[in-house]
Amino acid sequence: MAATLISDTAPWKDLKAHVGAIDKTHLRDLMNDTERCNSMMLEFDELFLDYSRQRATLGTMSKLFTLAEAAHLKEKINSMFNGEHINSTENRSVLHVALRAAKDTTMNSDGKNVVPDVWQVLDKIKEFSDKVRSGSWVGATGKALTNVIAVGIGGSFLGPLFVHTALQTDPEASKSAGGRQLRFLANVDPVDVARNISGLDPETTLVVVVSKTFTTAETMLNARTLREWISSALGPQAVSKHMVAVSTNLKLVEKFGIDPNNAFAFWDWVGGRYSVCSAVGVLPLSLQYGFSIIEKFLEGARSIDQHFHSASFESNIPVLLGLLSVWNVSFLGYPARAILPYTQALEKLAPHIQQVSMESNGKGVSIDGVLLPFEAGEIDFGEPGTNGQHSFYQLIHQGRVIPCDFIGIVKSQQPVYLRDEVVNNHDELMSNFFAQPDALAYGKTPEQLQSENVASHLVPHKTFTGNRPSLSILLPSLDAYRIGQLLAIYEHRIAVEGFVWGINSFDQWGVELGKSLASQVRKQLHASRKKGESVEGFNFSTTKLLKRYLEASADVPSEPTTLLPKI
Ligand code: F6P
Repeated sequence: MAATLISDTAPWKDLKAHVGAIDKTHLRDLMNDTERCNSMMLEFDELFLDYSRQRATLGTMSKLFTLAEAAHLKEKINSMFNGEHINSTENRSVLHVALRAAKDTTMNSDGKNVVPDVWQVLDKIKEFSDKVRSGSWVGATGKALTNVIAVGIGGSFLGPLFVHTALQTDPEASKSAGGRQLRFLANVDPVDVARNISGLDPETTLVVVVSKTFTTAETMLNARTLREWISSALGPQAVSKHMVAVSTNLKLVEKFGIDPNNAFAFWDWVGGRYSVCSAVGVLPLSLQYGFSIIEKFLEGARSIDQHFHSASFESNIPVLLGLLSVWNVSFLGYPARAILPYTQALEKLAPHIQQVSMESNGKGVSIDGVLLPFEAGEIDFGEPGTNGQHSFYQLIHQGRVIPCDFIGIVKSQQPVYLRDEVVNNHDELMSNFFAQPDALAYGKTPEQLQSENVASHLVPHKTFTGNRPSLSILLPSLDAYRIGQLLAIYEHRIAVEGFVWGINSFDQWGVELGKSLASQVRKQLHASRKKGESVEGFNFSTTKLLKRYLEASADVPSEPTTLLPKI
């Protein structure tokens, strides 16, 4: 039987036809319908979602639910939780939800309950991180290891960085981190090595090499670089005390020279960008903040997993968000989404979600390999408010239409009150959080400007069309639990989008071509530097660029002695 594309179904066509009706509406009017607005708000576990500023009516929502049925969304969600091989191109289960499952839960992959394996690693992380934090695990010279450099890239970096950045200013977490440092070395740029080792002493530093495959070129070179940094200062025998690893490939970890007892496993059924709840995130974060805080992060994610798995679509936050994204991208034709958290603590949310979303849904064929006749995926970007307001919001207000996610926090992690100020500092921030969605939705008409006596030549410049969609998520606070919830909301929302589009959100073949071309260039650079071989086998442009690069850096030694950054 030929595979059916979602775009060939009646509910998809019905939504296409419905766009005309929505184009006749304006958010200014839709926002006046209190019943509609009230139906577009929901609360779960003190998380509040308001999607009344989406360009959608209740009729649109019901058409989206019909689309979800046509896409077999419920069945697909169940297949994910049941450990079926929904990542068909890699023949794998997709079970990141098992990483935060309670100890007594059963979740099977290939007929085996994986939850006991998950908890075995979590218990090992707890034991190891307690030892390092208490100073009972010491470095080669007997000093406590107070600094951690986590070496990894992509999913082995962005999720843990997001959580670390969010926890850094949480009072409980920052107290627990007291005197410890956690840094991340991701880029293969030697400048990133310099930044990471700057001011650190190998004697008091633990390096955690994080790589699902343990073959990623950037991570392995950075790991070898830090191994050299440690062994040149403390001797090669110090490596076993100063380097540990997180990987699914424990054989390669051992081959690298890391004691297998100091390796923390995870599994093929965890995608890299969905791995922050595995040892990938839990190990470095527990070293920094203590396991009990990170356990709360896992509990937060778990609460959303349960909600996502059990709530009806009408009251299911990730499902609603996912369907609205499909509506915005595939029907209203808005290809981008701005992630705008009103707290600096979430400054690394957008970079993390960029990978989760764009690596998952940036696909051109259906899961059955049929060319998509529509664009899937979203262009994600964002910055914390109010910084973004002074940067790219101009375009969002008067240029292109970009649906926005506004994320606000009721209680600041770090309140500031000044006696003579009109409002406290967090209220000042939140004034913007509440104002921006209305500015986008309502805009400002030429009539309003005229009534304010704005000079007529300026009226077109000062007009705001409005009718620009957004949604608002209000969290009661931002602690480890809430950070886990936010993460899981986005993870599942992105899965919902992929399930509806009918693509495989869990593979990433698109990153391979660049990697293989880089290895061709690497070979050429080696041959030219070591044997003086001329540049061959590339097109005119790349040949020219490579020649220029080699000629201008002819002073690079062909047989170098070890050189590490000194800053
Ligand atoms: O960028 C491609 C990718 O495979 C990501 O999916 C992954 O998160 C990243 O590389 C790092 O891979 P690894 O953890 O195997 O080093």
